[in-house]
Amino acid sequence: MAPVANLLLLALAASSPSASAAPVDGLLSLPRRAVDAVRRYYGDVGGLTKPPPLPNKRAVLPEGWSYAGCVNESWGQRLLSGFSFSSQANDPLVCITNCAKRGFKLAGTEFGDECYCANEFTGTGGGSVVPDSYCKKPCAGDASEVCGDAWYLSFYTFNSTDGGVYCPTASTSAGPTSTTATTATTETTTTTTAATTTTADTTTTTAETTTTTGTTTTDATTTTTTGTTTTDATTTTTTTAATTTTEATATTTTTAAPTTTTASTPPRSNLPHYVWAHHMVGLTYSYTPSDWSGDVSTAKAYGVDGFALNMGNDYWGPAQVDAAYAAAEAQGGFKLFLSFDMTSMSCGSAADATTLVNLVKAHASSPAQALVDGKVLVSTFAGSSCTFGSGGVNGWQTQFVDALKAQGINIFFVPSIFSDPSSFSSYTWMDGELNWNSAWPMGNFDISLASTDAAYLAGLGSKAYMTAISPFFFTHFGPSTYNKNWLYRSDDWLYCTRWEEVIALRGTSTMTEILTWNDFGESSYIGPIKGDLPATSSTWVDGFDHTGLAQLTAYYAAAYKTGAYPAITKDSITLWSRPHPAAATASNDPVGRPTNAGWTSDFLYAVVLATAPATVTLTSGTTSQTFQVGAGLSKLKLASAPGGIGGSVARNGNTVVEYSSGSAFQYTENPVTYNYNYFVGSA
Ligand SMILES: *[C@@H]1O[C@H](CO)[C@@H](O)[C@H](O)[C@H]1NC(C)=O
Ligand SMILES: *[C@@H]1O[C@H](CO)[C@@H](O)[C@H](O)[C@H]1NC(C)=O
Repeated sequence: MAPVANLLLLALAASSPSASAAPVDGLLSLPRRAVDAVRRYYGDVGGLTKPPPLPNKRAVLPEGWSYAGCVNESWGQRLLSGFSFSSQANDPLVCITNCAKRGFKLAGTEFGDECYCANEFTGTGGGSVVPDSYCKKPCAGDASEVCGDAWYLSFYTFNSTDGGVYCPTASTSAGPTSTTATTATTETTTTTTAATTTTADTTTTTAETTTTTGTTTTDATTTTTTGTTTTDATTTTTTTAATTTTEATATTTTTAAPTTTTASTPPRSNLPHYVWAHHMVGLTYSYTPSDWSGDVSTAKAYGVDGFALNMGNDYWGPAQVDAAYAAAEAQGGFKLFLSFDMTSMSCGSAADATTLVNLVKAHASSPAQALVDGKVLVSTFAGSSCTFGSGGVNGWQTQFVDALKAQGINIFFVPSIFSDPSSFSSYTWMDGELNWNSAWPMGNFDISLASTDAAYLAGLGSKAYMTAISPFFFTHFGPSTYNKNWLYRSDDWLYCTRWEEVIALRGTSTMTEILTWNDFGESSYIGPIKGDLPATSSTWVDGFDHTGLAQLTAYYAAAYKTGAYPAITKDSITLWSRPHPAAATASNDPVGRPTNAGWTSDFLYAVVLATAPATVTLTSGTTSQTFQVGAGLSKLKLASAPGGIGGSVARNGNTVVEYSSGSAFQYTENPVTYNYNYFVGSA
């Protein structure tokens, strides 16, 4: 059974009392979310109508992936230990899609319902191709396909341009100890040390300060006024930013001294730059027009230029998209574009393409439609295996892009397909690509420019590269709902760090997308908590507001769009913290510890925007630490301790800004349920 079918059955079973009980255990959600399953949340209240028919089965493997044989494992040792899950929906496509979207290049199905991902072999044996007859277990999600057997993997590889590296014979029975395992051990040691410090109630804390000071020089500004049109022409701006990083181990209330200084200047570019935010239409069933107006005005205040409207196949989705366009048109100065969720929409037939064509057409001439080079901007989440009945991925060209062109609509198509970047230049239908997974580090390390940006830029050549930015990622759905339970490391002031990388790329990349505005189930939202949360997600979302990131969004968005960090006219402090130690054991959580729980460290993070040098004090529980910061943006952190969080900025002995979470947030070493979402406070 294809995964889409399972979700629809789930929706049907939950909403229709007469439906016989569908097997709901062990369901795997489609890649990252399944907006149509929101129906399940509404039940009869949602005015449910008959769900759409099952989409055509997509048996083709995702672009770039191929079967590499039946591969043995050593008994008791996992050959692929990057990520794994079991699911009654498991089949090669489900497994590969889930590995690929996490950045893995090796995937294997095992014992029917298991899926394993990695980038290298682990363990001390196995890894050899054996006769296919050893892999004989039918896939749990599709009995017509084979999914390994006990300690045998049906093995798939992504054929990257560096060829051979991911070939199974390259790493044989003398398999090395994995890098991942080594790093995880280090992480555990660090966590243990932190916990010991807290338990002993000593006054020792670890502090880190990073200060960025910006000076802006505007070389020339010419303003031409013609009738009603105002054009800013020939604006060249240079910004010099000094970044200071301090690491110090100090006792309570001491001052950390700078140890390193680096300078950075945003690259110049005369092209317009856009900051988009990913909006999950699937969570807006109950939205009224004023909800859309509110989102538009809030996003405008953040410096966001428009929403990428993530659309699935909800029957009510088009009406909410209409309402979104109406709200943006009414306010002006805000753009929208469609981002088709191809994990929800079908794309196996020509009729499926017509559905997408008509949705684009409906708003193509709206004054709120986002345009690039005068063309209608369109995006996707996934879609690398879509054919639209054409027999291949070029169906995007013939059935979609060309069909729109025939109706006089030229689109600028920037999908987010999870394919080998080296294939992008040959895809005539792509004008660019959104690099979804560039928003988070895909492993137990801090994000860096070297991660995936370089490969995407190289693969795209002259095509547009849309970067992605996200503050956090944690999802915690149990097997009876979406069955996805993991985090991506969101440490090291990820939101700021990734913004700074994106700004450093502004010379070659002119669009970025914030992931997300409102994907509450994945903890990545920067917008207010509203709309319709996916079932059970309120356990990690309620009370975990992220709107305190607004001033950072506005600061960085301005730098990205103008090429100069804006002057800071008001002191502010923004703080974020998870509610319990990474290694804590929850006393009553049926979903269990999330995968990658060890990939995060226990710190209170803070960012200060200071108009002038100041003294900053951070507090986590009974621990506090004082820092001297310069004018500009400073990043600070303090080891987490039980209790509330707070911070203040003082100058000449006077407190100028102060924040205290009070009882709104309490860090605890004894959580009842797992929550790796962050609470954000600001003043
Ligand atoms: C895997 O297969 C290879 C080739 O047949 C064999 O030499 C090796 O011993 C096998 N390893 C395990 C752990 O079964
Ligand atoms: C990888 O793809 C290239 C180009 O399509 C092809 O020439 C090569 O044989 C492939 N390698 C493997 C191991 O499949």
